[in-house]
Amino acid sequence: MIQESKAPVGTISVKNKPVKRYDDLGQNIDLTTVESFGEEWNAFHQFDDAEIKKIGDTYFDIVTPAMLGQDKIAADFGCGTGRWSKYMHDKVGAVAAIDPSDAVLAAGHLLQDIPNVHLYKASIDNLPFENNYFDFGFSLGVLHHIPDTAKAMEACVEKIKPGGHFLVYLYYKLDNRGKLYRFLFSLSDLVRRVVSKMPAWLKKFTCNVMAVFFYMPFILLSRLLKVFGVSKKIRSKIPLHVYENNSFYIIRNDALDRFGTPLEQRFSKAEIQQMMEKAGLGDIVFSNQSPFWHAVGKKR
Ligand SMILES: C[S@@+](CC[C@H](N)C(=O)[O-])C[C@H]1O[C@@H](n2cnc3c(N)ncnc32)[C@H](O)[C@@H]1O
Repeated sequence: MIQESKAPVGTISVKNKPVKRYDDLGQNIDLTTVESFGEEWNAFHQFDDAEIKKIGDTYFDIVTPAMLGQDKIAADFGCGTGRWSKYMHDKVGAVAAIDPSDAVLAAGHLLQDIPNVHLYKASIDNLPFENNYFDFGFSLGVLHHIPDTAKAMEACVEKIKPGGHFLVYLYYKLDNRGKLYRFLFSLSDLVRRVVSKMPAWLKKFTCNVMAVFFYMPFILLSRLLKVFGVSKKIRSKIPLHVYENNSFYIIRNDALDRFGTPLEQRFSKAEIQQMMEKAGLGDIVFSNQSPFWHAVGKKR
């Protein structure tokens, strides 16, 4: 069981799974971005177990068995549809999956048959748990969508016990990429600034079109080179190579995620290291595999 530090203002039942609601979301939150995620995740929430495992393994590659266990309680800060809580549920005793957007209702569907994942509609800026409570925390693709990323990381780490671990994935500043890659990115970012302001239906339509005409050409090139035996080292230089083995569903979802979100920030490896240290983490390990950057640290 998971012990909350304050009572919820209400409970929403999704497929008989309670979602505890905390309406005071604090100040460090971008409500337009959160609303946009609610729309996104209600459009994309059907992840099959094989795909969750395949992608999950790339995020959790630097998490060792010693960090987990049935005697441990974990927190998924910014769970979205709860796919990583699903990935994690059999590796720990219980998971608190937390998200302020309506995505958490989609998580209720995905996690309906998993009793040890508990759902909270709440914000990182006002977490309903005591400090030093969790053994393991993770926040994947979330904190760069929060206005003060460093402060949000501190709020998560505050909830981890000394000796516990925190895994984070933040969008990278392309610090390990060449000039052409960065140029293509700056063009795509201009597109994001326009697309993210569109109404939900037009945004979804535009991102589907972009998945076909922008994502797929790079991904197909990467797949083709793979067929011809070109090494992964060379293929990884192609933009969007990371999607080489992903389904079109995931690609469409990520196109909407990438281009539909109003607030996103990017960080270099050095900035993330500094931010993690300031939040109270040590023994920091970065993965040298994509998605960049993801790192795990131990609470001092
Ligand atoms: C890109 S999604 C990632 C979801 C999930 N971690 C995943 O990878 O599937 C970002 C999530 O961050 C959530 N988010 C944004 N601001 C937040 C805040 N202040 N507290 C908690 N979650 C937040 C959004 O609602 C959204 O579901």
